[in-house]
Amino acid sequence: MKIGNVETNNAVFLAPMAGITDVTYRSICKEFGAGLTVSEMVSAKGLFYHDEKTSQLMKKAPNETPFAIQIFGSDSDMMANVAESISEQADLIDINMGCPAPKVVKNEDGSRLMLHPDLIDEITRKSG
Ligand SMILES: Cc1cc2nc3c(=O)[nH]c(=O)nc-3n(C[C@H](O)[C@H](O)[C@H](O)COP(=O)(O)O)c2cc1C
Repeated sequence: MKIGNVETNNAVFLAPMAGITDVTYRSICKEFGAGLTVSEMVSAKGLFYHDEKTSQLMKKAPNETPFAIQIFGSDSDMMANVAESISEQADLIDINMGCPAPKVVKNEDGSRLMLHPDLIDEITRKSG
C-alpha cells in the first residue's frame, strides 16, 4: 500500500492506542508482520514546549519502518511547527481527530476537530 511516497508491505496497520502501543508493543507487532506502526497520540503542545516525557512517546524501535507519529492539538501554527520539527523522526505524521477523552476535547483537540472542517483544512495545509 502507498501513502504519499511511503510504501508499506501490507495493509494491516497497528492502530494507535494511548497507554498501550508503546515502543515495545509496537516492535512486537512489527515482528508479527504489521505493515505500519503508529506512535501513541503525542501532544503537539508538549512537543512545542519541549516536554521530555512527551518526547519519549515518539521513541521508535529499530524495526519500525515505516513509522508514523500521531500528534494531537488544534493550534494550526503550533501543529505546523511541531510537524516540521519531527519530520525527520517519522515517515508519516498522523493527526488525531478521533479521541473523545474529556481532557482532550475540552481543549478543542481530538474528536472536537471534526466540528471545525475549516480548522482541519488549515492544520493539514500548514503541516503538509
Ligand atoms: C485504550 C485505547 C487507546 C486509544 N488511543 C488512541 C490514540 O491515541 N489515537 C487514536 O487515533 N486512536 C486511539 N484509539 C482508537 C483505536 O486506535 C481504534 O481506532 C479503535 O480502538 C477502534 O479499533 P477497531 O476498528 O479495530 O475496533 C484508542 C483506543 C483504545 C481502546
